[in-house]
Formats: sequence, structure tokens, C-alpha cells
Amino acid sequence: MDFKIAVLPGDGIGPEISAQGVNVMTAVCEKFGHKVSYDYALCGAHAIDQVGDPFPEETFRICQQADAVLFSAVGDPKFDNDPTAKVRPEQGLLAMRKKLGLFANIRPVQTFKCLLHKSPLRAELVEGADFLCIRELTGGMYFGEKYQDDDKAYDTNLYTRPEIERILKVAFEYARKRRRHLTVVDKANVLASSRLWRKVAQEIAQLYPDVITDYMFVDNAAMRMIQEPTFFDVMVTENTFGDILTDEGSCISGSMGLLPSASTGESTPVFEPIHGSWPQAAGLNIANPLAQILSVAMLFEHFDCQEEAGLIRRAVDASLDACVRTPEIQVEGGARYGTKEVGAWITDYIRKA
Ligand code: IPM
Ligand code: MN
Repeated sequence: MDFKIAVLPGDGIGPEISAQGVNVMTAVCEKFGHKVSYDYALCGAHAIDQVGDPFPEETFRICQQADAVLFSAVGDPKFDNDPTAKVRPEQGLLAMRKKLGLFANIRPVQTFKCLLHKSPLRAELVEGADFLCIRELTGGMYFGEKYQDDDKAYDTNLYTRPEIERILKVAFEYARKRRRHLTVVDKANVLASSRLWRKVAQEIAQLYPDVITDYMFVDNAAMRMIQEPTFFDVMVTENTFGDILTDEGSCISGSMGLLPSASTGESTPVFEPIHGSWPQAAGLNIANPLAQILSVAMLFEHFDCQEEAGLIRRAVDASLDACVRTPEIQVEGGARYGTKEVGAWITDYIRKA
């Protein structure tokens, strides 16, 4: 296969983890005889500084022409602390999601056996946790009508039936391929938008009699996720709830630096870590590249290249078992490895496999 990849390294630790993702992609393509080419493009704070737009037209064009986007992270504290800033790096990410029609964000929450003790939850509780959070990504409060003056502000949590239907179908299909258990997460006891979600979900559930569907309020789901994470198989929820629940989910694994994601929809799919740009760590060679590298595995899975993805996952597992780990997950007294060293070890493993 020929892969044309748009690479958007972005801000903070983005460029460092991006480089490792690209190296892994190249190594796997060489091994399996795929052709690959990369087009780099600006986004986030970087793009604001250079061209005044966090998702420039040129970047959009490069994304549209690619088979997949390998995205890293955006965000810079100089914007976070300035509520008057007219443009923000995060707007670049939102523009990319909207313009590429990326309505389905797939965020797997998994544990690694050798890292169970890193979770703030008891190891016996998180052991075996393995679920997908399917987050609606182009609707809800993120994109609904907004207003702000000095005395009043609002965001609108607007969802239309077609938007709800298409994301629910994605979720039911994933459930069908997994353990056939779908949890629809909403706040239907309070929010009208949630009541429509629930109504539509109940209708679509009729078409999937082989999937056990349950409905859970988001507050209860947040609790259940840490009380009994193994309860979940596939969960589906709206944009804002999904944002919050997936950060919570990352704690189950023990480090935010471990979780990848895929965003799919109407145009080019995007593969990215769920974590942010960690500006304090930029340039220090300490960021964990695994979430980015596992995003490359998800990229191959998207194109049904299961062997390629499997090799990446084996290489990641092997690096953890060999204690070739970045500082936040390293065993006490273990050797120091940085972003580059972990990436190089994994690339080497792939080349020799
Ligand atoms: C995420 C991030 C983004 C979001 C931010 C950076 C806009 O937190 O991908 O989860 O809120 O969606
Ligand atoms: Mn988030």
C-alpha cells in the first residue's frame, strides 16, 4: 500500500513525540513493503506565531490530500493565561475536526500488566480493564452558539438527530466486533439534548438485538469507571462528557502518555495521542512517545493492516517489559530513557523482528 501521511507536530512536546511516531511508521512500512511519504504542516500556537491562524488553509489542504493525519498536540500557556486572546491554539484542533468532519473519536482505555501498580486505583481493580470510549467530536457545546459579555455568557449544547444517529451507529458496530456491550452515557434526567440522545439510542438498539445496551447518567458513569472499570466494553457519549471521561479513563492505565486515539468521519482520519502539549516538558526529551506510537498502530488498523499494527503493539509491550521507559513509568532505580531512546528502541525492535 502507498501511504501519504500529513504530519502535524504542533506545540510543546508535539514535535518530539511526532518524530518517534514517524520513525515507527517508516520502519513498519519498510518491513512490510509499503511506500510512505510525509507532508509536514503547521497547526496550533506554532501556526499562530508563523501565519496568524491555528489551522491555516494550507494545512487543511495537506490534510485533505493525505490518506491519514498523524497529529501530536497543540497548546501554549501564553494563550491559556490570556482570556482576551482572539485566537487560540485549541481553535486549530477544533477547526481541523470540523473541517475534516471527524465526528467519531475512538479512545481505547487499556491497561498494561507491568504498569498496573502505576494506576492510582488498586491493581486488582484495574486489571483487565479494556474499553472504548466513543466520543462525538463535532457537535454539542464545543460548536453550538456561544455568547459572552461581562455579565452573561452561554454555550449551547445542540445536537441534531442525524448527528446522534451516525455516532451511535459507529458505537453499535464497535460493540458488535467486541464483547457486545454498549453503554450510552448521558444526562437525560436534566438535559433535553440527552433525552434526544437516549430516544435515538433506544430506537437504534432495536437494530442491534445482539448487543446488550445500557444507559447511564454521566455522573454515575464517572463513578463506575473508577469503581469497576472492567464493567465497560464500549461507551458512547457526547463531545463534552467524552472529553472529561477520557481524561479520567487515562488514569486507569497509569499515565496519560499511554493512550492513543483515532478520529474518523467524512474525510481524512486523524490519529493522535489523547494527551496535550505539556509545554513545561518541551525540549527536555522526557515525554512518553507511546501514545503517539500506538496512534500509528491505530492508523494501520484503520487500513486493515492488522499485522503491522500487531508488530507495533508487540514492540511497545517488549519495551515496557525491558524497562525501556520514560521517567513517569520507569521502575525505581531503573535506567533513564528519554523520548528519543524509547522511540529508537521500539524502531529497532520492529526492524529486527
Ligand atoms: C482533547 C483536548 C481538546 C478537547 C482541547 C485541546 C481543545 O482536551 O482532545 O481531549 O477538549 O477536545
Ligand atoms: Mn481532553
